[in-house]
Amino acid sequence: MSSERGEFGSRLGFVLAAAGSTIGLGNIWRFPYVAGEGGGGAFLVLYLAMVFTLGLSIMLAEIAIGRAAKRNPVGAFRTLKGGAWTGLGYLGVLAAFVILSFYSVIGGWTLAYVLATLGPLLEATDARAFGDHFRDFTAGPVEPVLYHGLFMLLSAGVVMGGVRAGIERWSKLLMPLLLIMLVALCLRALTLPGAWAGVEFFLIPDWQRFDAATVGAAMSQAFFSMSLGMGCLLTYGSYLSSAERLPGIAVTVSALDTTIAMLAGLLILPATFAFGFDPASGPGLSFVTLPAVFAEMPLGRVFAPLFFALLAIAALTSNVSLLETAVAYLVDEKGTGRRAATAIAAGLGFAIGVPSALAFGPFADATLFGKTFFGLMEYLATNLLMPIGGIGIAVFAGWVVRDRIRREVLGDGADRPAARIWGWILRWLAPAAVAWILISGL
Ligand code: PHE
Repeated sequence: MSSERGEFGSRLGFVLAAAGSTIGLGNIWRFPYVAGEGGGGAFLVLYLAMVFTLGLSIMLAEIAIGRAAKRNPVGAFRTLKGGAWTGLGYLGVLAAFVILSFYSVIGGWTLAYVLATLGPLLEATDARAFGDHFRDFTAGPVEPVLYHGLFMLLSAGVVMGGVRAGIERWSKLLMPLLLIMLVALCLRALTLPGAWAGVEFFLIPDWQRFDAATVGAAMSQAFFSMSLGMGCLLTYGSYLSSAERLPGIAVTVSALDTTIAMLAGLLILPATFAFGFDPASGPGLSFVTLPAVFAEMPLGRVFAPLFFALLAIAALTSNVSLLETAVAYLVDEKGTGRRAATAIAAGLGFAIGVPSALAFGPFADATLFGKTFFGLMEYLATNLLMPIGGIGIAVFAGWVVRDRIRREVLGDGADRPAARIWGWILRWLAPAAVAWILISGL
């Protein structure tokens, strides 16, 4: 079994790979409009509080579970405790497949937009052309499926390379690039005439848009953005050397994830306001607004494809972590070779994703509970599987195998105040708060 397992080569390699998992479409595509809808600054305060209490605590527990067991989610819960707890591992692998399937569809859109912005799209003079292009393209039916397939193939290419030569190598190259590009684009957006209205919308609290639903929205956003509750970071943790100290790593990864989300907000919302678009236009925000911005800006024809390439990269490193979770399960539990496991998992992820790829065109009217297939998958993952997984991980690490996890995380520093707060959050706050939000959101 272990011959197929890998290990990260360095602490930095792990941090960048984990950041690669957490930083993705959730930060750049989703966070700005969720924050806008949730009341701007009011949402942000709540979001930051959640990230650095519940989110950070669960992240630390999740990485520790993986490293303590050196196994995939199913194997980890089985080795550390077994019995019904193994089911939590299966839930994680299931969630990985569900997210992988629809995530790769949006990943495919980003690839298509690299090509579209290299082509004539930016020559449009009427701002409506960008919305039309987006609607026509996502309606498909052929291209969204093809790009979804291409995106899955790219992810499989990275995962086949293994932990060190695939995941770590690509993360080390791509994550710094992403940060540089985002900062540059952010500066450009903030200096557009009229941009300040977007900064105000993003940062200044609007209590009218803030209500009970905002609390749930902030939590699902935090879970999704931090890749929590479904075993991705557990799997990455299983490839981390036991010599590394975990708390600092979890703080760094959480801070990186949050910083990128904030930068994305300071890019997209100011640009949205500067060009008079509706900030609450949901999923289309990045794909409709940004091309319009690039069409106006000096060197936009260079920046636009570069931006979508980097958005694709952010999505790719997240998709890779989802795929790796499924692959680790097959390698550890079924003894499948890495290449075959990758082919199986990517193939399955692709197949389950096809109805999602068609949900904006041919299958747009095929709805259940008022949601398309894509909407259902997203709902299932973010509103059910991830919170349930998060509660499970908190209870498991805080109560069930408490001593083992404390040793893994704290060594002999268990008496420090931060350690006590962490334990208290895992044992009491996280299960109660997440359960409350989960139930009230159903
Ligand atoms: N965190 C990723 C993002 O923000 C999405 C993701 C969720 C990745 C769960 C892995 C696991 O885009």
